[in-house]
Amino acid sequence: MHNPDKFKDLFLIDSEITFLNFGSFGACPKPVFEEYQNWQLVLEREPVQFIAFDGLQRVRNALKILSDFIHCDPMDLVFTPNPTFAFNIVAANLDLKPGDEILTTDMEYGAMDRTWEFYCSKKGAKYIKQPIELPILSEEHFLDSFWKGVTEKTRAVFISHITSATALKLPVDSLCKEAKRRGLITIVDGAHVPAHAALNITELDPDFYTGACHKWMMAPKGCSFLYAKKEFQDSLEPLIVSWGYKSDNPTDSRFFDYHQFNGTRDFSAYLTLPASIDFMKGNNWNEVAKSCRDLVRENAMRFCELTDGIPLAPLDDNFHGQMFAIPIRTSDPMALQRKLFLDDRIEVPVTRQGSRTFVRYSIQAFNSQAELDLLYNALHRELKSGELASKA
Ligand SMILES: Cc1ncc(COP(=O)(O)O)c(C=O)c1O
Repeated sequence: MHNPDKFKDLFLIDSEITFLNFGSFGACPKPVFEEYQNWQLVLEREPVQFIAFDGLQRVRNALKILSDFIHCDPMDLVFTPNPTFAFNIVAANLDLKPGDEILTTDMEYGAMDRTWEFYCSKKGAKYIKQPIELPILSEEHFLDSFWKGVTEKTRAVFISHITSATALKLPVDSLCKEAKRRGLITIVDGAHVPAHAALNITELDPDFYTGACHKWMMAPKGCSFLYAKKEFQDSLEPLIVSWGYKSDNPTDSRFFDYHQFNGTRDFSAYLTLPASIDFMKGNNWNEVAKSCRDLVRENAMRFCELTDGIPLAPLDDNFHGQMFAIPIRTSDPMALQRKLFLDDRIEVPVTRQGSRTFVRYSIQAFNSQAELDLLYNALHRELKSGELASKA
């Protein structure tokens, strides 16, 4: 077991806060943040050289380092500010005809649902949110639930690799294999995945994949990526048309030219990514992450017993990583989240997914059992008072 206190000192998170929400926006370790500020200084000292001359080659170097981490060809990657940006590129460009269907689950992230609904409605296509039977009993059970939604009109599948509110790792490997067998395009939302679950894009072989590097990889905010398989790259028009479109000085990649330069902006966050990877290497991250997963699981049943809820899937490495969704009932999730923050200084999201509500705790290197005990006591109090929360 690593020492959470050692890691508390290595992060900038306010020490007055019990921070159990790493999953939303991650957090930068101090040495990584210093590297970020160093890049911003390089930018401020010579903005022209940074943006117009050296910048894009540096971005390419950072992409190469990212590609080694997630195991794919660097030519198939571009950085994006966030996963929503990445999949707006995909959704805007997917060749959908009226009546075509995109098959997804009823557990997707709200911003992604909105993205797909927006572009599907423009094209007369349908976004089919297949209800997933909960609790998920096994990989086969999940896949059976999912494939009930497929029809002869399905063109693509869209799926979270790790879901947001429900915090479940889904068997995207088997799902992508079956989708391919059926001739469907595979689009995987791995926002939570890099440095949280094993990721080998070459082996997974999706058509499109996005991941956030500012979550579990701990890069500065605004660092994510879009992976697109080569055969799709030329069909992707830029979301933001800038100098890379019909470039006067094209590089060897139209994919890079069209999507990497979105006008003047500070791309220091992208250049800091190698420092995040070095931080993990220097701090035995595989071991740290394993003990975080253990802590997540050791506490899961205790919280479920408190709220009379049940885990949404088996409590093992196949379905769970460093987050757990505690089922709870509340008429006002936002008010409950605010109360936990204001009264207890606990930062933890309370989120609705369909008709269910969850308190989702994340465990990162700096979190301890004592912090989960604080959450337990606060929820116990809220359930007892019954004002904002009741048993699931
Ligand atoms: C499953 C999932 N997809 C995508 C996102 C990305 O959101 P954004 O693009 O706002 O960073 C998140 C963020 O938490 C998420 O949980």
